[in-house]
Amino acid sequence: MASDTAIKSDFHFRKPSKDDGAAVWALIEQTGVLDLNSSYSYLMWCEIFSETSIVTERDGETVGFISGFIHPDKPNTLFIWQVAVNESERGNGLGTKMLFQLLNRDRCEAIEYVEATVSPSNKPSQNLFQGLAKKLDTDCDVGDYFSSDEFPGEGHEDELLFKIGPVQD
Ligand SMILES: CC(C)(COP(=O)(O)OP(=O)(O)OC[C@H]1O[C@@H](n2cnc3c(N)ncnc32)[C@H](O)[C@@H]1OP(=O)(O)O)[C@@H](O)C(=O)NCCC(=O)NCCS
Repeated sequence: MASDTAIKSDFHFRKPSKDDGAAVWALIEQTGVLDLNSSYSYLMWCEIFSETSIVTERDGETVGFISGFIHPDKPNTLFIWQVAVNESERGNGLGTKMLFQLLNRDRCEAIEYVEATVSPSNKPSQNLFQGLAKKLDTDCDVGDYFSSDEFPGEGHEDELLFKIGPVQD
C-alpha cells in the first residue's frame, strides 16, 4: 500500500458508531451536492458498517466522513458510497487520507479494487478517485453505471462507475 499523504496532525480518525449518525447527517446536508438520505440510514450505517467507514473530527467537530462497504458479490472490492469533507477543510488531502486509512484497515486486507460512482459534473470527486489511483500507481477505469433516467423524478445526473485497482500491498 502506498503511504498516506501528508496532512495536518490535529485530525482524529476513527470508526463511527451510531452516536455519529446525527453529525454525519448534518455534514452530508451541508455539502449541498450529495444526496441526503434519511437520518435513520446514517445511524444505521455508522453502527453496522463501521469497519469499512470512517469519521474525522477536529476540535470535537465532525469534518469528514466516508461510508464504505465490501461489495457483497466481490469480496476484493471496497465500494465507497459517500465521501464528505467539511468545506473549510477541502483541498488539503483529507478525502485522500480517509481513503488510505480505510484501505489500511485489517478488514480491507483482501481489497484489490475500490469502486465508487461519481456524477459527470463533480470534478472534485473525479479528481479524488483519479488521484487515489495515481498515488496507488494503479489504473482508474470509468464506465457507465446508473443513468439519469433510472432515478425517480427529474434532476438526478448519471452516475459513472470509477474502478480503481488492482491495489498492491
Ligand atoms: C470530493 C471531496 C470529498 C474531496 O475532498 P478533499 O479533502 O478536498 O480531497 P483531497 O484534498 O484529498 O483532494 C483529492 C484530489 O482532488 C483534487 N481536488 C480537491 N478539490 C478540488 C476542487 N474543488 N476542484 C478540482 N480538484 C479538486 C485535489 O487537487 C486532489 O488531486 P491530486 O490527488 O491530483 O492532488 C470534497 O470536495 C467534498 O466533500 N465535496 C462535496 C461532497 C462530494 O462531492 N463528495 C464526493 C461524491 S460521493
